[in-house]
Amino acid sequence: MGYKPKVTVVGAGFVGATTAQRLVEKEIANVVLIDIVEGLAQGKALDMMESASIERFLTRITGTTHYADTRGSDVVVITAGLARKPGMSRDDLLLKNAEILSSVVLECIQYSPDTILLVVTNPLDVMTYLAWKKSGFPSERVLGMAGALDAARYAYFIAEELKCDPSDVEAMVLGGHGDAMVPVPGQTKVKGISLTDLLEIDKIEAIHQKTRDGGAEIVKYLKTGSAYYAPSSSVVQMVNAIVYDLGEVIPSCVYLKGEYGIKDVYCGVPARLGSKGVREVVEIPLTDQEITALRKSAEEVRQNCLRLGL
Ligand code: NAI
Ligand code: 2OP
Repeated sequence: MGYKPKVTVVGAGFVGATTAQRLVEKEIANVVLIDIVEGLAQGKALDMMESASIERFLTRITGTTHYADTRGSDVVVITAGLARKPGMSRDDLLLKNAEILSSVVLECIQYSPDTILLVVTNPLDVMTYLAWKKSGFPSERVLGMAGALDAARYAYFIAEELKCDPSDVEAMVLGGHGDAMVPVPGQTKVKGISLTDLLEIDKIEAIHQKTRDGGAEIVKYLKTGSAYYAPSSSVVQMVNAIVYDLGEVIPSCVYLKGEYGIKDVYCGVPARLGSKGVREVVEIPLTDQEITALRKSAEEVRQNCLRLGL
């Protein structure tokens, strides 16, 4: 097998391990899986490697607790932290995960100073801002995954309503990863046709509410953890666009420098992703109501950053 990118996944829990599995099984990258718990990443990595003859992949995964093994990673995906429990908001996780994320970022950049940091840990937008501050990296090289997941959920609920193939739906969700997220029906297309031309407004609004509740609905079922299949697919979509320099436009949590009238905050917007991270923020037409909602969502993220002293 020829050259494959090196991707580190920090956190060998549900999201991290599933992300690692998808990356190796799809032969997107060689993976280093790292966790603070001795044996966890090593055990899961070995288990995955033992499936190689059946799943037929030539990529490799290594499990470790030593950051030196992550040296020279093209992308570092950070899933380390605590997951949401029932009744717990994403923001409840703020302080504990900030502590974990700060230490992880400092360790990773020591061995991979040119890497791209892709944050998954919640509360996502604040953690991504924190990762950027801690790393001292240019903002293009620090981004977060949330919009890809929210859009995938939106696409699924639309496909259920229209009884169509979910992959025919190009969904767009902007804003922070929380209750204030902003689905954009006018820019959501099914085979090129706007959702607003396909469904009545009350049906669209019901789908928006389901999308906003998407994460909480899974937590309610699982009781002891949160979603990881759709989240890991979403991470892998972003990693693939980055390591193969695809220029794919994916809703991503990125640093805004005045786009959409928002400045100095990380928030979900469409971004063109490539080997340098964020190639560009794409500004799409929004209604007045959507732009107001997007700015409100970004303001909520800013307030949480202030709570962390950022
Ligand atoms: P999990 O609890 O299964 O896994 C977290 C892992 O992080 C554990 O294995 C733990 O040992 C590890 N860890 C904790 N501190 C660490 C440290 N200092 N260094 C290395 N590893 C450390 O949780 P799960 O379900 O994998 O979720 C991970 C995070 O991702 C949570 O914060 C969750 O809320 C978030 N998440 C975000 C999504 C998004 O859309 N951005 C979607 C799904 C989850
Ligand atoms: C989700 O949306 C927990 O943020 C995570 O499923």
